[in-house]
Amino acid sequence: MYKPQPGDRLDSLDTPSMIVDLDLMEANIAKLMNQLLPTGVNIRPHLKTTKSPILARKLIEAGARGCCVAKLSEAEVIVEGGIEDLLITCEIIGAPKVARLVELFRHHPQVKTVIDSPQGATAIDAALAQAGIENPIQVLVDLNVGQNRTGVTPGEPALALARHISSLSHLKLIGVQGYEGHLQHLHDRREREEKCRAAMTVLTGTAGLLRQHGFNIETVTTGGTGTAEFCATFPGITEVQPGSFIFMDTDYRNAVGRFFSNSLTILATVISKPGPGRAVIDAGLKSLSTDSGFAEPKDLPGAGYVPNGDEHGTISREDGPELAIGDRVEMIPSHIDPTINLHDFYYAYRKGVIEEIWPVAARGKVQ
Ligand SMILES: Cc1ncc(COP(=O)(O)O)c(C=O)c1O
Repeated sequence: MYKPQPGDRLDSLDTPSMIVDLDLMEANIAKLMNQLLPTGVNIRPHLKTTKSPILARKLIEAGARGCCVAKLSEAEVIVEGGIEDLLITCEIIGAPKVARLVELFRHHPQVKTVIDSPQGATAIDAALAQAGIENPIQVLVDLNVGQNRTGVTPGEPALALARHISSLSHLKLIGVQGYEGHLQHLHDRREREEKCRAAMTVLTGTAGLLRQHGFNIETVTTGGTGTAEFCATFPGITEVQPGSFIFMDTDYRNAVGRFFSNSLTILATVISKPGPGRAVIDAGLKSLSTDSGFAEPKDLPGAGYVPNGDEHGTISREDGPELAIGDRVEMIPSHIDPTINLHDFYYAYRKGVIEEIWPVAARGKVQ
């Protein structure tokens, strides 16, 4: 069986395959670092996008300090890849997950997590005590800064939670997280910036309140691809968590523009030609996510794509040369994170030649 190797030409890949233009990806990383490092903010990229310790290492080599993961099971994979300084940005709730956190923390004491309830805090504290682990786990209060997803209410409720956390000997409160996910894709840049500044005012305000009451709030962490540049210069923000910038997608490009390029595509093959102006490719719902609209054919002006079930999709084009059976087409994902989670490997290439092959190591790690 053919197994792709570095040095092979992209043409030799079977399809659908997830391919990465290394020049564009490296430029995205350099742009983010050049934009944000001079502000002095810590860059802790979110690995919910790439799910890869190899890519985490590239980001750290470029200037990032530590990484975020969404889930505990992602953290388990990423630490195996040698990245120790991880912040888990989703709440750890339920006995099975708390037990896994304790085991992870026992061997990887730089793992940190967020908390938005006294129950969540108490359960982790009790499990650490029962496991006989002496050193406290570092935790951040997760604050609702407007997304209305997770997060304790800013102000007094956050202060009450901080007091509760500090009463527990196996938890060490080090900061506050407030992710403004609802603002990332606002198309109007000024509106995005203004609403982001309002959310940052709430976040830093609560960080200040906690400090006034004697809590040692070192880390104030926030931001994604659509807002990191605004967060980074906002007084009191110490850390940003962008993830999608490395590859981008059409949804982000349509919202925030082309400062970062679409560096990842799904390579597909035309497998059938039902009629003029139409071509069926071998990439459907199992290759390209659809929650943010349909993927876009790359370099085929005027062409549109509609999935036709799990394994197929139709490209329609009124003008321009006809696609032929056997032609290769690159599809730009509409939402990068769930699309990556559908694939086993990244094939990273430069000028048509595969240079590196990276497993999507934390693929399917949703627990
Ligand atoms: C808590 C948190 N931080 C950061 C990010 C990164 O956002 P993006 O991939 O839009 O850059 C996300 C994405 O959902 C997130 O949930």
